[in-house]
Formats: sequence, structure tokens, C-alpha cells
Amino acid sequence: MIGEELKPKHALLTSICRFPPKQKNPHPAPFPLALPVRVIYSILDEKRGVVLDPCCGSGTTLVAAKILGSNFILIEISKEYIKLAEKRLLNYRNEIKDAEEEMAKHIGLKTFKERKERGEFTGRYGKGLSPELKKMLLFPEEER
Ligand SMILES: C[S@@+](CC[C@H](N)C(=O)[O-])C[C@H]1O[C@@H](n2cnc3c(N)ncnc32)[C@H](O)[C@@H]1O
Repeated sequence: MIGEELKPKHALLTSICRFPPKQKNPHPAPFPLALPVRVIYSILDEKRGVVLDPCCGSGTTLVAAKILGSNFILIEISKEYIKLAEKRLLNYRNEIKDAEEEMAKHIGLKTFKERKERGEFTGRYGKGLSPELKKMLLFPEEER
């Protein structure tokens, strides 16, 4: 993967990603499923791989890897959170819809390099946001 440019359709994966906070999760600091889905799907695309999360918490990365068909290795210090992750894995089908919502956003047509050369959106919010990316924002600009 090193040195390979992401496919244009994965242009949402930039150095800054914005997501609404995850709701209804007993873990104190979970991230939303869309985050690992975005990362894994962008990097592996249609390929399968092995995903390592050294601080798995409630298993969000595990669920994303499972839905995307990859294997996973997870490390977590808390037995309580491991149980949480195991339970979530058993019920991963309940989260497929959320994962699909993120995957449906991967429709960009230009590479990062092409957008940068044309002065278009490259992950910096504010100036230069293209109309198609504006439509994809979870929080419209005027609500931020
Ligand atoms: C920010 S949380 C990860 C949350 C996870 N991404 C989720 O969505 O649920 C970080 C996790 O790292 C675990 N952790 C902290 N130190 C650790 C260590 N030395 N080895 C393994 N896990 C550790 C914590 O118990 C905590 O669950």
C-alpha cells in the first residue's frame, strides 16, 4: 500500500475528517463506525487485508473490518471492553447500514493531486469546497 495513491473515489480520506460523535455506546470514548470504514475502505478498496487496532475499546474498528471482509487483530487492556467488542462483533449486521452510508459517499472523481493542482478541495474546510463535497458534509457549513 505504501506509495500507492488512493483511488479518486476515496477522496474523502484527507488529513482532516469530520464526523458527528458516536451515540449509544457504553465505552467512554468510542469513535463512529464511519471513521474506520472510511480508512479501511479507502486504503484497501475492494481488496481484503488484516487490520490491526492496538487499542480496540468497544471494537469499532473490528466491526468495520468485519463488514468490509477483512481479518483483524485487536488488542485491548480492559476485559470489560473486550466483552463489549465481542458482543458487538456478534451483532455486526446491525451496523451494516451505517457502514454502507459511509461507503456510499466514496464517489469522488478526481485524485488528491488533481484537486490540489486545480486549487479545489483537498481536506481544508472553508475556501475551495466544491459543490459536490458540500452536499456530502454531515454538518452543512452554515450550521458549524
Ligand atoms: C479511545 S479508546 C478506543 C475506542 C475505540 N476506538 C472505540 O471506538 O470503541 C482507547 C482504548 O485503549 C485502551 N488501552 C489503553 N491503554 C492500553 C494498552 N496499554 N493496551 C491496550 N489497550 C489499551 C483503553 O482501555 C481504551 O478502551
